[in-house]
Amino acid sequence: MDRPLRIALTKGRLEKDTVGLLEKIGFDCTAVREKGRKLILPVPDGHLEVVLAKANDVITYVEHGVCDMGVVGKDTIMEMEGKFFELVDLGFGKCRFALAAKKGSPFYGGYNVKTVATKYPNITRNYFESKGMDVEIVKIEGSVELAPLLELSDGIVDIVETGTTLKENGLEVIEDIVPVSARLIVNMVSMKLRQKEIENFLELVENNI
Ligand code: PRP
Repeated sequence: MDRPLRIALTKGRLEKDTVGLLEKIGFDCTAVREKGRKLILPVPDGHLEVVLAKANDVITYVEHGVCDMGVVGKDTIMEMEGKFFELVDLGFGKCRFALAAKKGSPFYGGYNVKTVATKYPNITRNYFESKGMDVEIVKIEGSVELAPLLELSDGIVDIVETGTTLKENGLEVIEDIVPVSARLIVNMVSMKLRQKEIENFLELVENNI
């Protein structure tokens, strides 16, 4: 028999909902729930193997075909722009990209080139290019909200879910950019070679979201 279908799951925020979905389908996710420090976990009744990875790595593994499928946020998909099929909007992990700035400080206006801090430089570049606006982008790895507070930047482009992080740091949304949610992605070769199994899995997913 073939090796199990391998699915890469994004660790952290999306993990609980993804495991919840697999359990709703009826798969036994005990090994995933009791994973300890293990990173490759069997879901035997689903003939699946779960790989837990960071969002960017989910895309890398699926693109290279070492994982057949992946669950990852649309934010990461837009930033990385890899080659794979994006097949299902899973409907959880809902948030949005927004441009934000210090409360009361208008981001637009004035003649100086604005500086924008973000973990997502490609999305930010595309967004301001589409507006025909020249901005300087500073890549930050975590807690982007710090950049305007430290006056490194005029604004940030980041994920907003509840809005609490902005609020607690005296920032506000200037404009929404695009909604985000978790997606199921599939490697292009796997889709051909293991079409039947993947289609069966997709059907189970679609019936349970
Ligand atoms: C994200 C994002 C914001 C926060 C927004 O960071 O970068 O900081 O969540 O959520 P809220 O609107 O509900 O407050 P995350 O917690 O994923 O951590 P990260 O900085 O490691 O990406």
